[in-house]
Amino acid sequence: MADKIRLGFIGTGGIARGAHFSALKNIEEAEVVAVSDINEDSANKASEFFEGKATAYTDYRDMLAKEKLDAVDICTPNLYHKQPTIDALNAGLHVIVEKPVAMNVGEARQMCEAARKNSRKLMVAQVQRFRPDVQLLKKMIDAGELGEIYYSRVWALRRRGVPAWGVFIEKDKQGGGPMIDIGVHMLDTALYLMGHPKPKAISGQTYTKFGNREGVFNPWGQWDPKKYTVEDYATGLVRFEDGATLSIEASFVANIQKDAMNVTLLGTEGGSDLEPFKIYTERHNRLIEETPVNLPGVNGYEAELREFFAAILEDRDPLVTGEQALQTQIILDGVYKSSDLGREVQVSEL
Ligand SMILES: NC(=O)c1ccc[n+]([C@@H]2O[C@H](COP(=O)([O-])OP(=O)(O)OC[C@H]3O[C@@H](n4cnc5c(N)ncnc54)[C@H](O)[C@@H]3O)[C@@H](O)[C@H]2O)c1
Repeated sequence: MADKIRLGFIGTGGIARGAHFSALKNIEEAEVVAVSDINEDSANKASEFFEGKATAYTDYRDMLAKEKLDAVDICTPNLYHKQPTIDALNAGLHVIVEKPVAMNVGEARQMCEAARKNSRKLMVAQVQRFRPDVQLLKKMIDAGELGEIYYSRVWALRRRGVPAWGVFIEKDKQGGGPMIDIGVHMLDTALYLMGHPKPKAISGQTYTKFGNREGVFNPWGQWDPKKYTVEDYATGLVRFEDGATLSIEASFVANIQKDAMNVTLLGTEGGSDLEPFKIYTERHNRLIEETPVNLPGVNGYEAELREFFAAILEDRDPLVTGEQALQTQIILDGVYKSSDLGREVQVSEL
């Protein structure tokens, strides 16, 4: 490998431009040498951002063939996570891919297999794990301060927050609606904090009560109701092999008081919330509520990219592995399949 990790981009849209590009400007270990996007204008603008040092391509396969890359950062819509990931891994490159890892479990399995076969890193950009509150809570849990975590309540709820841009309302390009798009953020966080218990059975229900309707108030603009093929609310219950359970709710639209992105944990020695960050315990026969203060400010996107490069340089697993993301995807698929079938599904069915 050269002095610096030679990085290429596949997909230079919203999240690449809005978060990854600027984070990379602060990172010494890597250099963006190529960018690709099916939209030529977007690829050219990305090249300009990197002051012309990154060659622009409209077909990522040309980029993989012509550039001597070490790794790629994949920021395409969910439908285009699998193939570029597998192609890059087969070309001997390490991959960081945006969340969710894929459209479904079958794709995620193929991606993990390609990483294994080629002995390359596959990291999923689960940015929430790098939050200072999540990192502190993880340390407390690992030190046993919350005891045995037996239940987690996961919320990714928007009262009115339908993305009116991109392909977020199209099931064939996204794999699903709020459950797969924003539920995955908090679900991954909960699983990380719980120590990645293995899911055993999943029950869920999805609803589309607003997406197909005209004129629903949405601060992010009017979407096309005819294109709306995903759920606008989903709920699920997960049973884990170790006896723990997790409930999850996710919405783009719901008649609730306010938005909530939270993970509540119940442990035998303590409980916690992330929003607001609190620890609940009992000491000296009194109930205690602790609020950590003075947490450092962290750019999660920079932290996740630094972790990806460190994993490559130190030849170790990254903090978020493809295998962990596969387990998360099993739960997402389980919620959708259970809703379709009208019954609980076993993980062995997925
Ligand atoms: N971590 C986060 O907080 C966060 C936030 C937003 C989006 N995301 C994820 O990032 C991904 C992209 O979302 P976005 O909001 O940037 O979408 P976007 O639509 O703004 O950008 C996607 C880009 O990919 C390009 N593209 C599509 N197909 C391609 C292909 N085959 N090859 C190369 N380029 C292709 C499009 O032209 C577009 O420029 C999604 O998986 C989404 O879930 C993550």
